[in-house]
Amino acid sequence: MPHQTFITPSHGEGGSLEEHLSTTGTVVDRGLEGVVVGSTVLSNVEGQVGRLTYRGYDIDDLAPNACFEEIVHLLLYGHLPTAEELASLKRELGSRRTLPEPLVAAMQAVPKTAWPMDVMRTIVSGLALFSPVNNKGEHVSDIHSAIELIAKLPTILAAWDRIRRGLEPIEPRADLSQAANFLYMRTGKVPTEMEEDAVDTYLVLLADHSYNASTFSARVTASTRADLYASITAALATLTGDLHGGAASASYNNLVAIGSPQNAEKFVRDELSKGHRIMGMGHREYRVRDPRAKHLEAIAKKLSEHQGNTKWYAIARELENQSQRILAEEKPDRKIYANVDFYTAPVLADLGMPGDEFTCLFACGRVAGWTAHVLEQLHDNRLIRPQATYVGPPPGPFVPIDKRQTSTVGSA
Ligand code: COA
Repeated sequence: MPHQTFITPSHGEGGSLEEHLSTTGTVVDRGLEGVVVGSTVLSNVEGQVGRLTYRGYDIDDLAPNACFEEIVHLLLYGHLPTAEELASLKRELGSRRTLPEPLVAAMQAVPKTAWPMDVMRTIVSGLALFSPVNNKGEHVSDIHSAIELIAKLPTILAAWDRIRRGLEPIEPRADLSQAANFLYMRTGKVPTEMEEDAVDTYLVLLADHSYNASTFSARVTASTRADLYASITAALATLTGDLHGGAASASYNNLVAIGSPQNAEKFVRDELSKGHRIMGMGHREYRVRDPRAKHLEAIAKKLSEHQGNTKWYAIARELENQSQRILAEEKPDRKIYANVDFYTAPVLADLGMPGDEFTCLFACGRVAGWTAHVLEQLHDNRLIRPQATYVGPPPGPFVPIDKRQTSTVGSA
């Protein structure tokens, strides 16, 4: 049974929502928890058992065996690719990576302090200005425009990473995988197999997650018949918040603040006593550990041991232990375990990425799911337009400005 909650009006003379509900029998689920708002064939989250599948394939099988490009094919075309189909998709991705020069110039013109997600969202929106239109002046939202966006997001992130450091962006290479090319564009060096695999598996794990907030946002936007660029811009905006994709960056800030595993317990207790949440812990759907966390934890361990510096992994490990234990004591009714963003932090930190870019790399994976969801929405579209229960003042006469008195009513 979903968690049913009643909203209390913040101001006004209207009846309370409780009063309204008692007369209408309407139920409001805050945050739409447990409410089914649509269907999808793309992915399934089974929160009680901790299983995530993409078109019926378990991510436990996909993560070690399939590359990100295979997942893109699975989501967009409906099946895992043959070797020939994979090669063709890789060629197309490789050929679409370069950004329009004016957008690179725009990035060079913005303050170097700009937040990477702001830059990514703005440049993705800008891509619409350079994309072809049909004879009605509309952008075409099809698989190829989806591939265009999937190809270009890592280029935006890598270019901004270099520009903010005062360096020239590096042209993408068409012969590398999405993961390897991303790392190459950051440093100019072709990554090791271990580094490439780490990013590749990360992208696989992040590719889709049913009707999460940013995907839902993309589908709502697409349902108005807005195009793919508008929908992905909306999704990027939604991803930024720290209850969603922003948790990856926030989780890294925690590792930095903790500094050493022995400080983890005090950190958790201090955060909770201040009413803060432990970033990277908890999930709306999962009541067990997020199934993606174990893969990321294994990558974090392997990468850190290989590099001979297990600092981030060791802090994360202890932070998870302490958070899980203390949250179980303090919130016994809510099962709170590590989510996908928790071990994102040590993995990406060990790859040398700055913490404020983590959410952007999340977007580089999730754009595969976003675009597939937009195309699915458009395939059988109906405008998404829910209702709200009005709990404000009842209808009343208009008051001319010279008759109005200072009042707190309606000032919130
Ligand atoms: N740290 C501390 N308390 C947490 C928590 C966390 N990470 N996650 C949930 N809780 C607590 C809430 O404070 C709340 O307690 P209360 O009932 O005493 O007020 C209770 O658990 C339920 O929280 P609620 O916000 O209703 O659950 P939700 O389904 O909306 O939560 C998240 C899902 C993801 C928003 C939540 O777990 C969270 O904020 N996590 C941290 C951010 C994060 O990692 N986001 C990425 C998700 S992939």
